[in-house]
Amino acid sequence: MVRRSCIVGCGSYLPSQVMTNDDLAKRVDTSDEWITQRTGIKSRHIAAPGELTSDLALAAAREALAAAGMPGEALDLIVLATATPDNTFPATATKVQAALGMRGGAAFDVQAVCSGFVYALAIADNFIRLGQARNALVIGAETFSRLLDWNDRTTCVLFGDGAGAVVLQATEGTGGNADRGILSTHLHSEGQHYGLLWVDGGPSSTQTTGHLRMSGQEVFRHAVTRLAEVVEEALHANGLRPADIDWLVPHQANRRIIDSTARKLALPVDKIVLTVDHHGNTSAASIPLALAEAVNDGRIRPGQLVLMEAMGGGLTWGASLVRM
Ligand code: UT7
Repeated sequence: MVRRSCIVGCGSYLPSQVMTNDDLAKRVDTSDEWITQRTGIKSRHIAAPGELTSDLALAAAREALAAAGMPGEALDLIVLATATPDNTFPATATKVQAALGMRGGAAFDVQAVCSGFVYALAIADNFIRLGQARNALVIGAETFSRLLDWNDRTTCVLFGDGAGAVVLQATEGTGGNADRGILSTHLHSEGQHYGLLWVDGGPSSTQTTGHLRMSGQEVFRHAVTRLAEVVEEALHANGLRPADIDWLVPHQANRRIIDSTARKLALPVDKIVLTVDHHGNTSAASIPLALAEAVNDGRIRPGQLVLMEAMGGGLTWGASLVRM
């Protein structure tokens, strides 16, 4: 009997403040036209002063648990992907654990920047497949607005804040349910590109938080190539063809990168969940935010095949195929 991790609930949270491209054009030398054409972003949400990554994560987690009909005490694993933890330590996941009333099990953070959700999903899936967890909460939560250099137009226009979460449950599927759940996960990193997308601070190096720095064009180039490779790898591992995919739920960094992946898969635009226009790049939160949006509005339905993929600092990248 195959033991798999099924997604049984999705949740999301976005801070109430919306910042438009026009708002940004009042702060730096940019324009709605440039940002829209180069990235597809029109607006993003920004956390309120004092609103922390854990607050965003908790709100998304509560919605996901409610959708799953599961109390927080039933969880035995929380994996939280973030590059913007509340504090250097302990893990933001432990704050969420306490707030959800989860007493046992394990809660920890994963740091793979924009690939964080795909990494966290893979880790939780492996715990479940090995029988080390039954009910896992996987969260992507970020307050990237706190890492931005608001005078650098090449980066500050790209990112937003938010959180998304999924509840995974172990299923020993038979019959009609046998093919439901996470089919496979595929993770990669290439540490020689550490300096292409990084934060120029940290406890060990500068004892400051630092600011996000990016060689945008180079990251773009790697993203287009590596995402095409990993998507192919995921399909091949499952003996599937691009035409079998019902939905592409990509990391939402840049509309042009998403379009490139879709073109290589020959996927029509109505099979892509797009949130980059109203969320911007929310790093580890972008995939679970997009997933929650499309599950909760009824676009993604049980039994459909969903492909997720992401690329981020490290460089890190990965993909996952899920039968909902
Ligand atoms: O989520 C993690 C992974 N991250 C990514 O995948 C991001 C990958 N990179 C990108 O999405 C794109 O490279 C960017 C959106 C960051 C930049 O787009 P680009 O088409 O690569 O632009 P560029 O960096 O080549 O800049 C073109 C021009 C430059 O001016 P010159 O040198 O041609 O005169 C920039 O100075 O656009 C200028 N520019 C801007 N102009 C107005 C850069 N940022 C802005 C801005 N507003 N915000």
